[in-house]
Amino acid sequence: MILLGVNIDHCATLRQARYRAVPASAEAAVEPDPVALALLAEQTGADGITVHLREDRRHIQERDVWRLREKISTRLNLEMACTPAMTEFALRLRPDFVCLVPESREEVTTEGGLDVVGGRERVAACVAALQAAGIKASLFIDPDEAQIAASAAMGAPLVELHTGAYANAYHGPARVAEFQRLRQGAVQAHGLGLTVNAGHGINYVNIAEVRTLPHLHELNIGHSIVSRALFSGFGEAVREMKARMNP
Ligand code: PXP
Repeated sequence: MILLGVNIDHCATLRQARYRAVPASAEAAVEPDPVALALLAEQTGADGITVHLREDRRHIQERDVWRLREKISTRLNLEMACTPAMTEFALRLRPDFVCLVPESREEVTTEGGLDVVGGRERVAACVAALQAAGIKASLFIDPDEAQIAASAAMGAPLVELHTGAYANAYHGPARVAEFQRLRQGAVQAHGLGLTVNAGHGINYVNIAEVRTLPHLHELNIGHSIVSRALFSGFGEAVREMKARMNP
């Protein structure tokens, strides 16, 4: 069974589009609430909740993350930049997982994953601090041999393979090659003892192929589920994705 981590960032994007600075007295009018959505996701098949607390706080806010920590009963996966400030925040919050993702240009590989090879020392220090606190560290990387090897070498227990290049190529000739890269990456990562997650750009169509990747443990999916919810309702959107992942 492949697990589903539901990314609720886009719920917060919608809220922030209208309500940025609202006094506490007016909070009852503010919607949609990402925490309420997370609870609905859990009731309808999510195995975990994923949020990205960006340094610019463009969608999810710190208060959302603290409320999630308190209210959800599955697992909290915090996506964050590999910085001292975010590491300090994670050590206070104690999510179940932290997925380190790139935010600034310098941290990004050509495909868009975290450059673990180029930022080896910085990433390793962050992974070590998280792991010492009992927080499982995951690295959001391209399905690239060197990035996977470096992730395993620094002792990260999990990687999340970036499916964005594959998703973007889905309707073009590069799709087969991108899928092959993902497949090889999953095999390599598993062989090195890493738990293999994947995410970015997964939708109700490409899931039919993504789900056939070997050794998949969990998929993190946001945009397609939140988009489909406009028509089917959120619970049904989660249920349907889970069913397509595990037919
Ligand atoms: N995994 C990671 C590391 C992400 O940063 C994101 C959001 O960009 C996702 C998964 C979910 O991507 P999507 O919203 O395209 O499903």
